[in-house]
Amino acid sequence: MSKVSGGRASRKGRAEKRGTRAASLASRSDFPLLAGSPALHYLDSAATAQKPRAVLDAMRAYYEHDYANPHRGAYTLSVRSTERYHEARERVATFFGVGDTRRLIFTRGTTEGLNLIATAWGTEHVFPGDEIVVTALEHHANFVPWQQLALRQGAKLRICGLTSDGRLDLDALASLLTARTRIVAFNHVSNALGTINPVAEIAAFVRRRAAPDAIVVCDGAQAAPHLRLTLDDLADVDFYAFSGHKMLGPMGIGALVGPVALLERMSPYQMGGDMIEIVGDEETTWNVLPHKFEAGTPNVAGAIGLAAACTYLESLGMDAVRAHERELLQLALQQLATIEGVQLFGPRDLAARSGVVSFTLAGVHPHDIATILDGDGVCVRAGHHCAQPLMRRLDVPATARASFYVYNDERDVEALVAGVEKTKTLFAVAADPSLRSG
Ligand code: ALA
Repeated sequence: MSKVSGGRASRKGRAEKRGTRAASLASRSDFPLLAGSPALHYLDSAATAQKPRAVLDAMRAYYEHDYANPHRGAYTLSVRSTERYHEARERVATFFGVGDTRRLIFTRGTTEGLNLIATAWGTEHVFPGDEIVVTALEHHANFVPWQQLALRQGAKLRICGLTSDGRLDLDALASLLTARTRIVAFNHVSNALGTINPVAEIAAFVRRRAAPDAIVVCDGAQAAPHLRLTLDDLADVDFYAFSGHKMLGPMGIGALVGPVALLERMSPYQMGGDMIEIVGDEETTWNVLPHKFEAGTPNVAGAIGLAAACTYLESLGMDAVRAHERELLQLALQQLATIEGVQLFGPRDLAARSGVVSFTLAGVHPHDIATILDGDGVCVRAGHHCAQPLMRRLDVPATARASFYVYNDERDVEALVAGVEKTKTLFAVAADPSLRSG
């Protein structure tokens, strides 16, 4: 895995030399938590994003004015709640370029969407000797369900390797695809490195080489918040899963988008209220899509919050979101690379990378970096990022990870870089007390 090591160079005054600092795309005042904590540098949006007031207000309005159990009551309030839920689905579907709302199933998040496929489709279509292809770049949510499915069904799990700069090795992928391949699962954007994978290209390639009825599953958790998506155009991707909380929506809501014909043939994932049509003593028939896959009382407030997040992002413009993150990413990579001992992981080509910076600092555990940064109000994640197979291939136990979003600005990048420099100095002094001044 290629790493970029930094040499020492002065970065002081760089922003002043450019004459201006990169501003945030969204106003910090739209985000109550950030507005209330002016000294906070929130750089962990790949884990979860902060919430704009528009999302909080939409959820509150639902609870205050329209709240009842949907789909169940004949009374006006329940009908209103049902309408709010349907409107939210339509809003989210439109934002993601999904024309037929039957194919958008609300889930608790990406993890549930991926588990739904592994259980509902995998159990009935994967047999001994079959093969499931995943990649070394996956979050555990898009790795462990397939690994365990393979173990349960007697299938083989095959893992696509990476290039030296943290991209999927498409030649390696080609060599793994056979007539026994039943599932190919990969992410659109890596949570740990920020790598943007060429989804349409990979999916078309899989179509040409794998079994004709193999399914292509894409983990879109880190793409949905940052890229303009038109899922109807991703014809060769069968299932696309994403979460609401990383794209300014609430926790506990997300969606799985799949093809109607396939979803209709699949067995339900969970059994209970709402997903049935007729329950006989011996047999049960299933509700129509998408309800067949939404057992139990749905997360209506979550869906409404997610819909409000879509509206908010649309008002910013997804192309502007991407451009903004790219600017901050470039600044962070340039400045961190000037600190000797910093190793940066992931693609160097900014076009192939979202706003995620994974790095290590020689002689300092990433948890210590995160703790020292936290002392100055800089929030970064440190650890394996739920991607242990990737960490093994990077040959590190952990990295520190900063991730940018619409409310970040250049001051956040400066605080990050200053914090890493401070960490380096503190550890150097601890190792050699003669460096202590005064
Ligand atoms: N999947 C989230 C992350 O990458 C939690 O941090």
